[in-house]
Amino acid sequence: MNKPEKINEHLDLIDSVDLSKPLTFPTEAYTSKDYAEAEADRLWAKVWQHAGRVEEIPNINDFMTYEIGLDSILIVRTGEDSIKAYHNVCPHRGRRLVPVAKDSNGARGNRQRFVCGYHGWTFDGDGKNTYILDKDDWQGALTDSRTCLTEVRVDTWGGWVWINMDPDCVPLREYLEPAAGMLDPFQFEKMRYRFRQWVVFDCNWKVALEAFMEPYHVAATHPQLTKYGDFYAWSKAQGLHGNDGYDTPDQSAEDSAASTTVFRTGKGPDARAMMGQMQKEFWETVGASTTQVMVDAAARLVDELPEGTPSDEVHHHWLESCKRDYAAMGVEWPDIREEQMAEAGLAWHLFPNMGILQGPVFALYYRTRPYGNDPNKCIYEAVAIERFPKGEAPDTEWVYADATEENWRRVIAQDFSNMELVQQGLQSRGFRGNLPNPHQENKVTNFHLNLARYMGTGAPQPLDD
Ligand code: FES
Ligand SMILES: [Fe+2]
Repeated sequence: MNKPEKINEHLDLIDSVDLSKPLTFPTEAYTSKDYAEAEADRLWAKVWQHAGRVEEIPNINDFMTYEIGLDSILIVRTGEDSIKAYHNVCPHRGRRLVPVAKDSNGARGNRQRFVCGYHGWTFDGDGKNTYILDKDDWQGALTDSRTCLTEVRVDTWGGWVWINMDPDCVPLREYLEPAAGMLDPFQFEKMRYRFRQWVVFDCNWKVALEAFMEPYHVAATHPQLTKYGDFYAWSKAQGLHGNDGYDTPDQSAEDSAASTTVFRTGKGPDARAMMGQMQKEFWETVGASTTQVMVDAAARLVDELPEGTPSDEVHHHWLESCKRDYAAMGVEWPDIREEQMAEAGLAWHLFPNMGILQGPVFALYYRTRPYGNDPNKCIYEAVAIERFPKGEAPDTEWVYADATEENWRRVIAQDFSNMELVQQGLQSRGFRGNLPNPHQENKVTNFHLNLARYMGTGAPQPLDD
């Protein structure tokens, strides 16, 4: 690994990389134990990462923890508009303040005071120490700043709570741009959990994340979906982040809305039937990326429209039905302009470890994290959020779900089937380095470019070198 003092020279090199050219990058980021250990300091301790949803801590004194590598962050609601975050460690002799069960996806609860189980030091929601047994023994040395919890930067966007362990980090909004601005119209903050599942895989967290980063894999991994259309996609760097979407033959306003999977009218002689069938199949085999209301509206198309209705009219009619059905339920359909929809595309990668497939009333998102500091293991989560009528959001909890088709549905299980095989292959001495597609997999390459910025190593190189 490069030494950090070479970082400036290294950054110049990175800035000259042209993502539209064929590039390659090494496997170190996926397989090296040294790299995984360095990630803790150079990456995880420096980046903004979403630690949960705001809806998980609605009441004052609600708390949750977020585990990242060997760090644990304690997040507490301290007021109606105030959330604070701390390193989850007691400043006395270092016990984990709030224990996190190994088989849980973080600890949650409501507490006015956090009492350390070892010697009883006690902290309020503001991180201030309120009790120390025999404090005078320290002869006045225990100042407030020595005995309080160590604060972590925290902010919210899109209904997520985001944390950053670097006290000198840029503000969250600046970090998330231009993704935040392009995704604001979707108003994720108005959505609530529909399901949330997690599982541990024998692969690096990047392998699991990248399994969902491009539709280039659809033809081979999900062949059953190709009957609905081509999955040829553009893929773009958006600063630290990236997005992709479908190339459409005709970039008219109506057509550009077809740049997300769920909005595609599909191919085939009868656009009405195809739309109904595609929505049904997505609902049954992904379990997300659409909603029951939208599936039902698509199923009615064959009855509501005459045979031979052109696909753009089918598409328009369907969306209008969806909006009407949602309005009748008292759910607002956000006003997203066609060009905003097209520009946002199908899906996003938010650096470093989050993927989002967005829609007007739903989103499916993924998060992957290292498992401790093991490069060959990760925690994977998939979450569906949706707009519900007021008070009708379901009660959900984190569910550990083994990677079976029964637990995850067919499409996501198909994606899972690649992960451990990729991790095995990346460790092969015969593998010459990644060859990402320069049109359809730029998100992946841009991810590695930005990893190289943070890590000081492993930048993608031109293939002709
Ligand atoms: S380690 Fe927490 S009170 Fe001693
Ligand atoms: Fe997939």
